[in-house]
Amino acid sequence: MPNLLPAIGSHHPRAFVGPPEEYDLMGATQFRLLTALGLRSNHRLLDFGCGSLRAGRLLIPYLDPDCYFGVEPNDWLIEEARAELGNDLFDLKRPTFDHNSDFVVPFEERFDFVVAQSIASHTGPDLTRKLLANLRGALMSDGLLLVTFFEGDTDNPREGWIYPDCCAYRKETAMQFLRDSDLSAVRLPWFHPRQTWYAAARSPSRLPAPWQQRYLTGAVFGVPTWDVRERLLWRSLQKMAGRVARAIGAR
Ligand SMILES: C[S@@+](CC[C@H](N)C(=O)[O-])C[C@H]1O[C@@H](n2cnc3c(N)ncnc32)[C@H](O)[C@@H]1O
Repeated sequence: MPNLLPAIGSHHPRAFVGPPEEYDLMGATQFRLLTALGLRSNHRLLDFGCGSLRAGRLLIPYLDPDCYFGVEPNDWLIEEARAELGNDLFDLKRPTFDHNSDFVVPFEERFDFVVAQSIASHTGPDLTRKLLANLRGALMSDGLLLVTFFEGDTDNPREGWIYPDCCAYRKETAMQFLRDSDLSAVRLPWFHPRQTWYAAARSPSRLPAPWQQRYLTGAVFGVPTWDVRERLLWRSLQKMAGRVARAIGAR
């Protein structure tokens, strides 16, 4: 069977924002992470670089009217999503959008949650600092920022917006970007097929505590990248348990 899916980054609402075959998964995983971390329907949420509402199509129905805000310079993505989801949803929930490409949050509101999924994976160092500083400014004092980085062994030196290619940063560098923006942050164990989730806040007390973090697995059965990783981990734990049992039995 030929692969009829449009190429990543092509002018298609489900391919422009990432692998089209993962479109539903990547929306669902953002929704699950946000609700696991305490998002409730009366909270105000900013979806920075919201694309074709991959997460927004779950978040907008869930949130109360006037609670969903999106920044997305490619307004055609939102128009495609509106055509698919229907005007009634938009009339009922009144999501607010802005189309600037300056990495600015132009809304007066401050947010309980800010999500930036696969945005810092495309920004050079200077733009990453600008992005994080502006997202920090958009947070309420007890707000939580969720941002993904594309981790690698070396730091991307290229400046500007790099798309659809990703730019990698070492995990130490990602953490330093967040600290430089006066944010406390933790790296989350939540599953992402290619990137890594970080939670950041103005105060460390707002971050998920270590005892809570172990529940943030993002498990998804049937997704090959998750299945393979977890099956290997399970087998090595079984082998280790067998070795320990044999060592104890041999005493
Ligand atoms: C990889 S997609 C991720 C979209 C969305 N966060 C998601 O998970 O579906 C990156 C998005 O960033 C948007 N983008 C590009 N430049 C931007 C800017 N200056 N400010 C905000 N978003 C931008 C792109 O148009 C695209 O929709």
